[in-house]
This record gives sequence, structure tokens and C-alpha cells, in this order.
Amino acid sequence: MFRSKIAGIGHYVPERVVTNDELAAFMETSDEWIQERTGIQERRYGKKHEETTTTMAAHATRIACERAGIAPEDIDFIIFATLSPDYYFPGCGVLLQRELGITHKEAAALDIRNQCSGFLYGLSVADQFVRTGMYKNVLVVGSEMHSMGLDFSTRGRNVTVIFGDGAGAAVIQPTENPEQGILTTKLHSDGTYAEKLAFINPGSHGGYHAKKAGDDTDFGYPSPDTYGEIFMTQHMMDNGQQYPNMEGQFVFKMAVQKFPEVIKEALDAVGLQTTDIDMLIPHQANLRISQFVQKTLRLSDDKVWNNIQKYGNTTAASVPIALCEAWEAGKIKSGDLVCLAAFGAGFTWGAALVRW
Ligand code: ACO
Repeated sequence: MFRSKIAGIGHYVPERVVTNDELAAFMETSDEWIQERTGIQERRYGKKHEETTTTMAAHATRIACERAGIAPEDIDFIIFATLSPDYYFPGCGVLLQRELGITHKEAAALDIRNQCSGFLYGLSVADQFVRTGMYKNVLVVGSEMHSMGLDFSTRGRNVTVIFGDGAGAAVIQPTENPEQGILTTKLHSDGTYAEKLAFINPGSHGGYHAKKAGDDTDFGYPSPDTYGEIFMTQHMMDNGQQYPNMEGQFVFKMAVQKFPEVIKEALDAVGLQTTDIDMLIPHQANLRISQFVQKTLRLSDDKVWNNIQKYGNTTAASVPIALCEAWEAGKIKSGDLVCLAAFGAGFTWGAALVRW
């Protein structure tokens, strides 16, 4: 049994910077409100119709491959995490495979739909496959083109101001060095509050979950006897059902509880303490959440990487972008204990400990 290591990382963010003031031209919001509640100063938006979730992932992947000393063609398994895929189906995994020209017959691709924890889940899957010797070059990529699917009216302001576009990628390979690699990954989920942060239409549910929960709101689903228009109606669109929805305060409270819990669980599993962490890379959901977690774990400022100020929340891309930036800035050195952690829609959450 091998251990797996992160052999190369890369990230990509689009050129276009969108400031808080620019958003205030579309909706009732302000730079002051956004900075005070989230820490975000600006975010990036991809070039519409030219950049996609897949093309951004391809940029990040090429960098990660180069740093891992392989060609994209050497990747044998792609794990692609996103909530903003190019298509409803097929997933971005195969689109990325095509974009990178990976044509060998052993190649396989898997899409992960775990929102903010998608990269962590992907890393854990990669770790299991590499440890057992099934694959040698696994690509884990998180990429989001949120800007194509947000509500830019005041109705959507609590969600829209938070999100940005970008991609991050990691190549996972086996290592026989006992001093290096992924020490553990811990994953969790709880579907009880699935709708607290959700993008429910278009979908095939026809109101089933809401009705079961006692919510009789009429979203205008077509009659059960009707075929051919199950996914989306004009009524739903008029009510903003084609956009993500979030109960921000509820999500915030869960996040500040689950982040420290899962980080401590991961540390316990390998007999380490919070004082052993050299760098914490939290999912960039809200600067206030990261600061709360930092305080709970009693970590000094130089042991936590935050870049939400520049990029907003890039969901599945946020952890690999932050990891890559911290590494490029020389803040992660050989032998360091790096902790990655994420919490998001589902709810799903997780943590990983990596000896760099
Ligand atoms: N600009 C100005 N006012 C706003 C904005 C905005 N962009 N958004 C909301 N408001 C208003 C609300 O309408 C409300 O007004 P009211 O008091 O008159 O009703 C007021 O500000 C307070 O709204 P809240 O939603 O209670 O604001 P809160 O302080 O909770 O901040 C935020 C909202 C930033 C979304 C916060 O709750 C948060 O970060 N939550 C967690 C987000 C998160 O972690 N998500 C998980 C990851 S994402 C994923 O998994 C896809």
C-alpha cells in the first residue's frame, strides 16, 4: 500500500476584476456592507462565452501537471468538483478530458457535486485510489463559473455578492516516503438542511421535498399528468427559482461549528494537535467564518491563508486556489503540516491533513 502525495498544484482566475462598487450599480448593496459582513473587496468573472468552468479548469490543470512533472496525457483519472458545470450533463470531467486531449484508453472521469467541500471529497477519493495502486496520476480539480448563474437584482444580493469565478487543480501521485503525503481525510454530510443553501430548479423533484416538509408554496409545477415540461416553468423563473438560495445566518452558524469539529477529528485520527498545524487552508466562504475558526483553534495569523478579499467564494475552487497561492508565496515548505478544511451546501464538510 502506497501513501499519496500532492505532486503539483495550479490555479487560474480570470482577468476581469469586479469590485463591490460595480455590483452596487446592479443591486442595492454597498462596498461597506459587503466588506463588513464578508471581508470581500473584489472577485473575478470569466469572459462570457469564451471561458467556462471547463476551460478555467484546463488552465489550472496544465500548471499543476507541469509542476508534477507530467503531461496532461499522463492523467489516468479525473475528479472534477463543481456546482456550475458547463452542461447539466455530461459532467465537466469528460469535457476537461477532451479539452486537454487525454485520449488513452485507461482514462476515466468522475464528477463530484458537493459544492464547497467538493475538492476535499475529491482529494479523499483520489487518496483511496492512489493508496491501493489503482491509479498513478489522479487529477483533482475544482472550478466554478458562478457569474453565469447569479441573480444580479437586489433579490439575489445576499448570494451574488459572495461568489466569484476561478479554478484550482492538484495532481495526486503515490509516494513511498513515510514522511510525506496525505495523512488522513475526514468527510461528513447531513441532508437535514439540504434546502438551506440550494439551487433547486430546474430539477426533477416537482415539489416533493417541500411538500414532505409541510411547505405548500405553489411554485407552479406542472400537473403530474403532464409530460414534457417537468423541469422549469415561467412561474418558477418569475420567482427567481433559477438562482441559488441561501439562509445565510443559518449556514454561518453551522459552518463555525463544523469547521473546528472536523479539523480536530482529523488531528485526533493521526495523533496531532492544533499546535502542529503549520498552515490552515479553510474554504473561503466568509472572512468572518475563517477568523472565527482561527480563534477557536488558537492559530496565529501566519498560519491561516485567506484570499476571499480578492476572489470571493469560489466554492469547489476555493481550497485549491488558496493552497496554490500559499505555496507560491513560499508559506508552505517541505515537511509542513497543512490542514485543508471546507463546509458547504448539503450540508457537506471535511478536512484533510497533508505532510508537505
Ligand atoms: N447588501 C446589502 N444588504 C444586504 C445584502 C447585500 N449584499 N445581502 C443581504 N442584505 C440585507 C438583508 O436583506 C437583511 O436586511 P434586513 O435586516 O432589512 O432584512 C440584512 O442585510 C441582514 O441580512 P443577513 O442575511 O442576516 O446578513 P448576514 O449578516 O447573515 O450576512 C452572509 C449574510 C454574508 C451571506 C452571511 O450570512 C454568510 O456568510 N453566511 C454563510 C455563507 C456560507 O458559508 N456559505 C457556505 C458556503 S457556499 C456553498 O456551499 C455553495
